[in-house]
Amino acid sequence: MKQTYIKEISRHLGQEITIKGWLYNKRSSGKLGFLEIRDGSGLIQGVVSKKDVSEQTWENTEKVTQESSITVIGIPREHPKHPGVYELDISDLTVHQLAQDYPITPKEHGVEYLMDHRHLWLRSRRQHAILKVRHEIIKAVRDFFDDDGFTLCDTPIFTPAACEGTTNLFEVQYFDEKAYLTQSGQLYNEATAAAFGKVYCFGPTFRAEKSKTRRHLTEFWMVEPEVAYAKLDDIMDLAEKFIGHIVGRVLENRKEELIILERDTALLEKAMPPFPRLQYDDAVKMLQQAHTEGKVENLFELGGDFGSPDETYISSQYDKPVMVHRYPAAVKAFYMEPDPQRPDLALCVDVLAPEGYGEIIGGGERASSLELLLDRIKEHELPEEAFDWYLDLRKYGSVPHAGFGMGIERCVSWVCGLEHVRETIPFPRMLNRLKP
Ligand code: 4AD
Ligand code: MG
Repeated sequence: MKQTYIKEISRHLGQEITIKGWLYNKRSSGKLGFLEIRDGSGLIQGVVSKKDVSEQTWENTEKVTQESSITVIGIPREHPKHPGVYELDISDLTVHQLAQDYPITPKEHGVEYLMDHRHLWLRSRRQHAILKVRHEIIKAVRDFFDDDGFTLCDTPIFTPAACEGTTNLFEVQYFDEKAYLTQSGQLYNEATAAAFGKVYCFGPTFRAEKSKTRRHLTEFWMVEPEVAYAKLDDIMDLAEKFIGHIVGRVLENRKEELIILERDTALLEKAMPPFPRLQYDDAVKMLQQAHTEGKVENLFELGGDFGSPDETYISSQYDKPVMVHRYPAAVKAFYMEPDPQRPDLALCVDVLAPEGYGEIIGGGERASSLELLLDRIKEHELPEEAFDWYLDLRKYGSVPHAGFGMGIERCVSWVCGLEHVRETIPFPRMLNRLKP
């Protein structure tokens, strides 16, 4: 018999259907068995009544264990007291494989234990909801750019040089040479932007992050748009529209998942443009004021880069994402365009998510002068020969251009309201985790 997915059950009320899935949970009371069944698309409660089924089906009902793979035949109906909730009157139950003692039970487990069993943990309701939201966000990201004239230009993962500083590079042996796993597709985006005008890349990026924070993975997915002739303000406009679009899509299409995650959606609804724009210097004043009032421990010094606690404080002051712009050039990457009014500042922006989530987007305007870039490459002690192709972009029709990168996992973490990014990707890679 044809398989029906639980998600589509409302279209089959009163009809006999077949569901193929796994047993999520079970209760029984002598003559009745209540089976919670999942099939990847959803969950449904099935009811088996001893008097209405064959001996074999009743025997299967009694022996079936959590996460056994099963096929059931039954007739769905609406719950008498809860409209929109469906139940299945089961007439037949087959067990494909009777699961051994399942290591994840409804009782509490520690996070490390759950992470060790990530390959199984993914089956639970909450993890399922998070990854559904992740998928929605990725789809929203692609639609946003595809519908706005951007061309997808994928960038390489093996690279000959650093993009975001040399301290967190993963080095690999590439035949007879050294290569690095990419930290960002940006430099290549700059080349494709000169060919296509508006581009984006979207793929895994790698950083050997030695820090154990709730925001850092060593492998994460980044989406990076790059626009020829764009200035800092243009890219800030793009970033706020982009985030508003993503949040809107999740609110519209992932209501059930947000309920499972107990996400306060009123907070998400506020994340619509325009977003406040705060110059770095003013953000520093805010931190110093907070220190005077005893609200933050450290006294922040003008000129430094924000750490996680600083970002947490700044972003907790707003109920929308806040765009902090014009950081000191000294704390930013080599490719930043200086502010003509104050060359010690870079024309860059970090978008900090509200509720203390901190940076989800980093970007800005790129240096378009060959001389300046050559100086910067020297100052940053980067190997000039690895950048010859990049410097060509400043020799053949150089234009102002700008772009940004958003880490998908940080965005998912904020939208879902999670404690840690490790639950936002199916198999996270972190300082102490390479398995499963
Ligand atoms: O601010 P970052 O380092 O910027 C760039 O890489 C630019 N080249 C992007 C561009 O302009 N095209 O990284 C961008 C974003 C961060 O805002 C954050 O969301 C995410 O990437 N990110 C991480 N996410 C998880 N784990 C990490 N270790 C991350 N490092 C950065
Ligand atoms: Mg950054």
